[in-house]
Amino acid sequence: MPDLLSPLSVQGLTLRNRIVMPPMWSGQATPDGLITPAIVEYHRRRAASGCGLVIVEHAFVHPRGRHSSTQIGVHADAALDGLTRLASAIRQEGAAACLQISHAGSRGSSRLIGAPLLAPSAVRHPGEPEGEIPEAVPEAMVPEIVRAFGDAAVRAQAAGFDAVEIHAAHGFLLGQFLSPLTNRRDDQYGGAVEHRARLHLEVLAEVRARLAPGTPVFVRLGAHDEMPGGLELDDACWTAGRLAEGGACLIDVSGGLQGSRGVGKGPGYFVPYAQAIKAVVPVPVMVTGGLGEADLADRVVREGRADLVGVGRAMLNDPDWAGKAIARLSTARRAG
Ligand SMILES: Cc1cc2nc3c(=O)[nH]c(=O)nc-3n(C[C@H](O)[C@H](O)[C@H](O)COP(=O)(O)O)c2cc1C
Repeated sequence: MPDLLSPLSVQGLTLRNRIVMPPMWSGQATPDGLITPAIVEYHRRRAASGCGLVIVEHAFVHPRGRHSSTQIGVHADAALDGLTRLASAIRQEGAAACLQISHAGSRGSSRLIGAPLLAPSAVRHPGEPEGEIPEAVPEAMVPEIVRAFGDAAVRAQAAGFDAVEIHAAHGFLLGQFLSPLTNRRDDQYGGAVEHRARLHLEVLAEVRARLAPGTPVFVRLGAHDEMPGGLELDDACWTAGRLAEGGACLIDVSGGLQGSRGVGKGPGYFVPYAQAIKAVVPVPVMVTGGLGEADLADRVVREGRADLVGVGRAMLNDPDWAGKAIARLSTARRAG
């Protein structure tokens, strides 16, 4: 049975172990969304500690999909230089580099984007009590959003990233489409789960079609909204199955329409969701959330409950987390 330190091959991409730096916004981009030296160093440092995969923080794919003024962008060719430096720094340290591509939907601000916020329906985001009421995405605008994800993926590949991750969690645009709380549409993108997940599948198909054949595409999928009336695990399992059929080669399980940080929850709070999704997809499954204790992260992999483990805040607080975990687990293996 593999453990946290076992290599893993994901669609031809070999990871030296199953420790992942999950996407974590660093708040250090320029006002144009460009990469700064501080962002390169933030990711390089954690790659150097030994993790197998670094998934770079969410990058907006379209100017109207921007979340914050300090978020990085992959919306224009002007972003390419900085992204190239970033991918190269991560890869030179021996980790695989993946870029998370995202549209924030109603989790932005109209002042920032200079236009009304977009969302599946004109419903205030339940995770943003002070948030603005967005405009419902007109059906005719969907192709522009889909294309923006494809353009972003092409840029990520041109910049040298090994993989891209489509962000479909944490109540951003794709999460908003999947959630019955924020999607009240009565067209082909609303209603039953097969309609609410349509945009996910269109975005995935576009990204796959636009990248070189065989390029790994991951999806970070919110498995549960953790809100009454919200998305539940059954619908997430169905969606994960269709995403895997559509060519997603890794499902990165997270959750929470208003965030993923498991306030008040115990260790490994999304592991049961990952385990449920792993039972229905033939591709590797990653889980993140309260797994900052190396022995626990290792156990999750050894027990076959997930294939990779993301370590967020613990790695934020200690850039050497991966190196220490590797040393600790290697010593324990030798002793035992
Ligand atoms: C400062 C910070 C920024 C984050 N930014 C992102 C992001 O850009 N994309 C994303 O999918 N998740 C983001 N997350 C969520 C983390 O990837 C992770 O899922 C969450 O922190 C739970 O894992 P942990 O308990 O190991 O911290 C962020 C979390 C933190 C703490």
